[in-house]
Amino acid sequence: MNREDYIKEAVAQFETILREQSARAEKMKNAPPATDFAKLDKIIIGCCGGDGIGPIITAEARRVLEFLLKDAIASGRIELRDIEGLTIENRIACGKAIPDDVLAALKECNVILKGPTTTPKGGTGAKELESANVAMRRELDLFANIRPVSVPEQGIDWTFFRENTEGEYVLGSRGVEIPDELCCDFKVTTDAGTERICRAAYDFAVKNGKTRVACVTKANIMKKTDGKFSRIAHAIADAEYPSLTVEDWYIDIMTAKLVDERGRADFQVFLLPNLYGDIITDEAAQIQGGVGTAGSSNAGSHYAMFEAIHGSAPRMIERGDGAYANPASMLRATEMLLRHIGYIAEANKLSRALDICTAPDAELKITGRSDGASCSEFGDWLMSICETL
Ligand code: IPM
Ligand code: MG
Repeated sequence: MNREDYIKEAVAQFETILREQSARAEKMKNAPPATDFAKLDKIIIGCCGGDGIGPIITAEARRVLEFLLKDAIASGRIELRDIEGLTIENRIACGKAIPDDVLAALKECNVILKGPTTTPKGGTGAKELESANVAMRRELDLFANIRPVSVPEQGIDWTFFRENTEGEYVLGSRGVEIPDELCCDFKVTTDAGTERICRAAYDFAVKNGKTRVACVTKANIMKKTDGKFSRIAHAIADAEYPSLTVEDWYIDIMTAKLVDERGRADFQVFLLPNLYGDIITDEAAQIQGGVGTAGSSNAGSHYAMFEAIHGSAPRMIERGDGAYANPASMLRATEMLLRHIGYIAEANKLSRALDICTAPDAELKITGRSDGASCSEFGDWLMSICETL
């Protein structure tokens, strides 16, 4: 193909993309009301282990769920269902980010507990394989990525609301290229997609007595997409949430402000487009003690998926240290899952037990190596603490 052919092909692809995204925006506008978990006779929790340390830490979180929910499981209100096949080997073999049978099984659940999954970077023979996380967020329309970070001794109590289905991610595997000359990726921001993440963040703020929301963009440079995000964030707050103050911040200065100890504890709720939310939540988790300490909720109107914010740690597996992986982030995600489906007392119990078991002076330490506690020893200890609460 010559340059002209590439340009023609790219223009045709752009038209397809615009039409698809416009149809998606239209669908969002006509979305049915959200599922009320309290009204469901039965809640199915799907558990998928993922790759690397994923199956190890997910099995531990599943054990804790089984322990905390034993009555509800016995009565049939809750079912824990194992979902196999979301492994990198199977995904490469099927050539799909999520194999069809796995996706069908996921859609039969209400909520999902998911271990980290590996995404090939290219050069592996599977370079076009989309991230399983990104595909799941899109397929189940999990638009709100909610990431709490807290450092009580410093007064830090932050909650990040990262838009999870748009921005640079939605078309991240569908850019266009003129070989040896240029590449172009797409970033998408819709009105309906922005409105729903704003309302999710603002509802949370109001319910939890927060008054400040930082809307973090780069609207001085990304004028269309981030400009829209910021404009809608203000319009909704002004019209519907009079108790909230929404402040504009640019992502670059916000990354600096988070490491500035004088004043960072004043931030409460953060509202961000997808990519900025991805980056800044790793930074925030590091302030809390590392990405291994943070859980994350990917919530939509009908499904929700809960996961650690870190990856599958293949190096730990290569070293033979998988059994010593720290399940704390998966357990934080488990706490969010329990809260999401209305098991608040169980979530509070798990939260308190985790605070005790991960305190700096805790008697049992996980180091990620055989000189520390194993993942299952940690789980046993955590459950024995739960018994005392
Ligand atoms: C996260 C991760 C994912 C993301 C990766 C694994 C695709 O970094 O959940 O933050 O970029 O969203
Ligand atoms: Mg990330």
